[in-house]
Amino acid sequence: MKIPFFRTTITGDELKYTEQVLGNGDAFANSGFVAKCEQFMVHRHGVEKFFLTKSCTHSLELAAIILDIKPGDEIILPSYAFVSCANAFALRGATCVFVDIHPGSMIVDETKIESAITKKTKAILTLNYASVGCNYAVIKDIAKRHNLYIVEDNAHGIGAQHEGAFLGTFGDISTFSFDHMKNVSCGQGGGISINNPALLEKFYVHYEFGTNRRSFMAGSGDSYEWKNIGSNYPISELNASMLFAQLEKMEAINSRFMQLWNSYYAQLKQLDEKKLITLPAPPQTANNNGHCFFIKVKDDEKKKKLVNYLLENDIQARFHYTPLHSSKFGADNGRFNGEDKYTSAEAHRLLRLPIYFDMKDADLNFVVEVVNRFYSNR
Ligand SMILES: Cc1ncc(COP(=O)(O)O)c(C=O)c1O
Repeated sequence: MKIPFFRTTITGDELKYTEQVLGNGDAFANSGFVAKCEQFMVHRHGVEKFFLTKSCTHSLELAAIILDIKPGDEIILPSYAFVSCANAFALRGATCVFVDIHPGSMIVDETKIESAITKKTKAILTLNYASVGCNYAVIKDIAKRHNLYIVEDNAHGIGAQHEGAFLGTFGDISTFSFDHMKNVSCGQGGGISINNPALLEKFYVHYEFGTNRRSFMAGSGDSYEWKNIGSNYPISELNASMLFAQLEKMEAINSRFMQLWNSYYAQLKQLDEKKLITLPAPPQTANNNGHCFFIKVKDDEKKKKLVNYLLENDIQARFHYTPLHSSKFGADNGRFNGEDKYTSAEAHRLLRLPIYFDMKDADLNFVVEVVNRFYSNR
């Protein structure tokens, strides 16, 4: 493939740090990279408390455990979301209540949340789609008035901001992904920030096997014991070493992604003005990180034709989420509240174009040229 959809970010320092872990037997457990990453996120990314996990999926599952989600509870979330956002709660027996999105940004429509609240509602899950922050002023007010938790899925949004604050600081619990397709990556990894201090003690137990291992390691008691449910969530020093090399360069990585994003936007604007495609329309308050560049085409059929045309030209483009309520499992384990005005229609129109850290300007220009050619031929 001449222009793949994505290539994992590599900045050059990864091997140097990874070798420090490989070079010393004990360093697999104690080389300090996990701590460096966690400190970086607190000091440079503004979260209250931050911990690395094996994936964002694990972080979401851990969030559901910390919040004590039980069968019969309900969670409100956009149906246009990654499957882990729902599964984390379905795994604990909760019901997903889906609401509609804003079409321009594909983030949850905050005006649809309050009417979805019932006596069973425990939390609102927000997804900063394509690193665009949701309307947290409104969502936090709703959560406060109804005594609900906010779980912020910030898988896409490392380093991105909303109204001057970093994404990942808005939830009681916020989650991050560092998988191979994120701007900042360690191949497979995640993070969780606990921004509500009242949840911290519970977090420690569930994070480390469901035990009081953390306080034991800090010197209290002769041994640690089983306290509650939990699992092995922490990441390895090896993954953290690669991650730290990239976190140190987070601004440079995101600024390259944004250059590419802005270039697509500027070059495809004419097609948008002619109403042949629709460009993303993030709110004014968004300061995104360029993680994902999408266009919307007329309909599903047009999208498939464009995907094939791009493929004929050695370019890989991808759809994104299939709305969760549209599958049989999603319908059996959740319900859509209110009208599905935009979720299904906009998801079918959406196509993501290639964007990655070492993408050449010439390659991006070629993608634009092929998209233009597609529309001039039809
Ligand atoms: C919004 C969202 N949340 C969670 C995940 C899962 O992330 P991970 O691969 O780290 O488990 C993804 C995956 O891309 C995602 O898009």
